[in-house]
Amino acid sequence: MVSVLFVCLGNICRSPLAEAAFRIETARLGLDAEVDSAGTGDWHVGQPPDRRAQAAALRKGTDISHLRARQVTRGDFERFDHIVALDTHNLADLLSLRPRDSRSRISMLLDHAAGCAGEAVADPYHGADEDFDVAWADIAAGVRGLAEAIVRETRRP
Ligand code: 4NP
Repeated sequence: MVSVLFVCLGNICRSPLAEAAFRIETARLGLDAEVDSAGTGDWHVGQPPDRRAQAAALRKGTDISHLRARQVTRGDFERFDHIVALDTHNLADLLSLRPRDSRSRISMLLDHAAGCAGEAVADPYHGADEDFDVAWADIAAGVRGLAEAIVRETRRP
């Protein structure tokens, strides 16, 4: 079973949406996966996703109200096959936290979306409700590419 951790700054906006969107893809593809999300910061630990993120997920038919924010730990670098950053700051933080012997593959989510390598999912926290729909659309493209790549790797003859 493959394991995937999505990481943003607060774990209340983008990475919970990525976790939910990736679960939709794993169900679509019949991929057996462990999925979680976390933040590089600790300000929102224990909190549910931002209500605007919850509403954006519900508009896509997914309830994320049960999720609770947590901070990335060193143990995540042993536990997860893939650790996926939502923006370049998250990526830089993950690369500096990463223990030398970690075998986790670290990438940025939009590296997995055709034509979007190196691009960030913009942080909607200080934005409007619509910005959460934009984030969902970017995230949906990234998780689709990631899930399909994992399927190609794991089902290679
Ligand atoms: P996220 O959004 O990283 O997508 O969860 C943010 C949430 C909280 C803050 C910043 C970004 N904050 O500054 O508290």
